Amino acid sequence: MASELKQNGEENTLQSIRYSRGRLQLLDQRKLPHDSVYIDIQDSTAGWHAIHDMVVRGAPAIAISAALSLAVEVANLGSVDWSVNDAISFLQKRLEFLVSSRPTAVNLSDAATKLNDVVLKATNDMSKPEAIFQAYVEAAEGMLIDDIDTNKAIGSNGAKFILSQTQKCHNLHVLTHCNTGSLATAGYGTALGVIRALHSEGLLETAFCTETRPYNQGSRLTAYELIHDHIPAVLIADSAAAALQKSGRVDAIIVGADRIAENGDTANKIGTYNLALSAFHHGIPFYVAAPLTSVDLSLSSGEQIIIEERSPKELTHALGGQGQQVAPSGISVWNPAFDVTPANLITAIITEKGVITKKDSSTTFDIKGFVESF
Ligand code: MRU
Repeated sequence: MASELKQNGEENTLQSIRYSRGRLQLLDQRKLPHDSVYIDIQDSTAGWHAIHDMVVRGAPAIAISAALSLAVEVANLGSVDWSVNDAISFLQKRLEFLVSSRPTAVNLSDAATKLNDVVLKATNDMSKPEAIFQAYVEAAEGMLIDDIDTNKAIGSNGAKFILSQTQKCHNLHVLTHCNTGSLATAGYGTALGVIRALHSEGLLETAFCTETRPYNQGSRLTAYELIHDHIPAVLIADSAAAALQKSGRVDAIIVGADRIAENGDTANKIGTYNLALSAFHHGIPFYVAAPLTSVDLSLSSGEQIIIEERSPKELTHALGGQGQQVAPSGISVWNPAFDVTPANLITAIITEKGVITKKDSSTTFDIKGFVESF
């Protein structure tokens, strides 16, 4: 493996994850858009904190950063006097620990399960801890590389599908929520990748992005990416989204996902459900764009998705909790980071393998059937 992995396929797009074997740096997204500062992540404990404390966020970026934080720890272990069982137990315990950093995005536990399988397979094939570590590191590095191709496929599938569903052939106005771009992935992005693809095909007139309260991923990160990449964009307050739709200026809404249940119910950033409800009312197509690693077939519906609740400070203080106090001391706060949009409000789910639509008059998706058809 080359010392510097080829990543971030689009030249000049932002890079949340910088990696070469033995070295991982994460862009501290808490400081954007003002400062671009990378933090060295030397092991899985530092990886856990970076995810938990929002240095890195976005479902695919969380999963890849977790996997790579353990890869650098392993690559820098030096020679250890461990048995094969010691090595397996070390990797399994660290993966389990990493999964506990944030609960809603399934991509993290999906990555941990796949890496655990690699470890067990390497154990069957080889008998030395070094060989097991090597297999782990290569598999984690593969996740970083694959994510870009996955996102580009989502972008291309989404752009083609959206175009096929509209009377317009250019000048599209698309609304998005939260941040699903290069910063939330290894590069290119999912929902923002579709917007990127529409733009590069000359089909996009405007990308509307919501500010995404309370943590402001939209105003701080998506607006920053759109400006950085010269994609024509307009920032709106979350509370302006219904009025914007009523004004007739939105052709489609496209969002990402943190977990998609078997029936297509989708957990995503808080406020996604509001957007889906208003899109339904206004007859605007509502698309989810996500890799298949966001699918959780162990859950039959979104009712079972665990929703992370975050610090009251994100609401009581400005700048998503980092600024001045803006609410009175003593007020009770409910601050869910995600909500679940029921499948009946979702028009289609765009993945790297194709677009999942509903059959006949069904109000839900057959995600299992789609996944098993490959
Ligand atoms: O709390 P965050 O910033 O991690 O939430 C991110 C989202 O909700 C994204 O929409 C989702 O993870 C998809 S990112 C490609």
